[in-house]
Amino acid sequence: MKYKRNILITGGAGFIGSHVVRLFVNKYPEYRIVNLDKLTYAGNLANLKDVESAPNYEFVKADICDFETVCGIFQKYGIDGVIHLAAESHVDRSIKDPFTFAKTNVLGTLSMLQAARHCWSGDWEGKRFYHISTDEVYGALELTRPEGVPSDISAHMVYGDEFFRETTRYSPHSPYSASKASSDHFVRAFHDTYGMPTIVTNCSNNYGPYQFPEKLIPLFINNIRHRRPLPVYGRGENVRDWLYVEDHARAIDLIFHEGKVADTYNIGGFNEWKNIDLIKVIIKTTDRLLGNPEGYSDGLITFVTDRAGHDLRYAIDATKLHRELGWSPSLQFEEGIDKTVRWYLDNQEWMDNITSGAYERYYEDMYGNR
Ligand code: NAD
Ligand code: TYD
Repeated sequence: MKYKRNILITGGAGFIGSHVVRLFVNKYPEYRIVNLDKLTYAGNLANLKDVESAPNYEFVKADICDFETVCGIFQKYGIDGVIHLAAESHVDRSIKDPFTFAKTNVLGTLSMLQAARHCWSGDWEGKRFYHISTDEVYGALELTRPEGVPSDISAHMVYGDEFFRETTRYSPHSPYSASKASSDHFVRAFHDTYGMPTIVTNCSNNYGPYQFPEKLIPLFINNIRHRRPLPVYGRGENVRDWLYVEDHARAIDLIFHEGKVADTYNIGGFNEWKNIDLIKVIIKTTDRLLGNPEGYSDGLITFVTDRAGHDLRYAIDATKLHRELGWSPSLQFEEGIDKTVRWYLDNQEWMDNITSGAYERYYEDMYGNR
């Protein structure tokens, strides 16, 4: 069958990538979707069980750093569009092992760009290289409204007067965000130097099904289920801006098709939460769904040493994406959290498979007996 487009999605077996692959495979039967993933500890083909036998879906196990193999994939499938998500994505790991982050996120992205440049050989017609990045490249914002007051931007809590905009200067603080910032610069450089049709988007914290349980929300749901301590870094005063992962995937679809070449879009939900308040919502929701009495798991909260260089506040201004392409988040946070907790509780086998082997050892390594 001749496909209308042949799209390479990297990191498709990970958290966000699996939602993007699922959306594209189901929505565009006329496209061939090639998922390139190394299957690191964070990559899991069980995330894609429902689409694995779709006729327009192909999985290739490969490393983005392996230029020759990536070139071979471009040629074999006639790739004309790339959605690049493969990365090392956890800040705490980057603090322990920054070298792996530089290798995968910087050199891996460069290898993807070089492969696209080599295989497209200057014929940019109908081509697109879309790089998925994070708001963490912008650094950290102040907390100028510590109690959180509803502003006129939305009914949600807003903890400061400043937001990350597309024009905000890059100022990464963690090895993770430094590596993502560097990869963003390489992508833009390939547009400016060679004319490659690139797009970069920077998104806030995602939550939802299939997230590896090293990140706050799935880690805490799983710990509540096992009555393990909930390690809150510092005093839990840090603020994050949360977006449901399927809303991110919808934005990626829209921007891949309609975004302006060489442009940047910020993606976020205007949905800021102090960690400690979010944690209380997670506890309350999980206890309710497990049938525990209210307050049952409150005592699991354990304040621990703060993360080194812990960014105080992230908050995205996503008005450009709304104004230019009409995107806005579809889900209210209360609904999103409810759906998310239910999913992890209903899919305990998925969680148990992940946490049984490598992750269990990693958990001990990171947190000792906490
Ligand atoms: P994830 O850690 O869940 O998944 C990463 C995927 O990349 C895994 O499937 C892994 O196997 C694969 N991978 C890692 N190294 C690879 C390599 N060398 N070659 C091929 N595949 C490799 O990450 P995620 O949370 O889904 O994030 C995906 C992307 O979105 C990342 O680029 C991340 O920086 C960005 N992002 C994430 C968030 C978030 O809240 N999770 C927010 C904004 C942006
Ligand atoms: P995380 O999910 O790791 O995302 P990111 O660091 O990319 O924002 O963490 C979200 C917030 O929760 C962050 O402020 C760190 C905090 N946190 C804890 O307090 N305890 C934990 O065990 C984890 C994993 C995170």
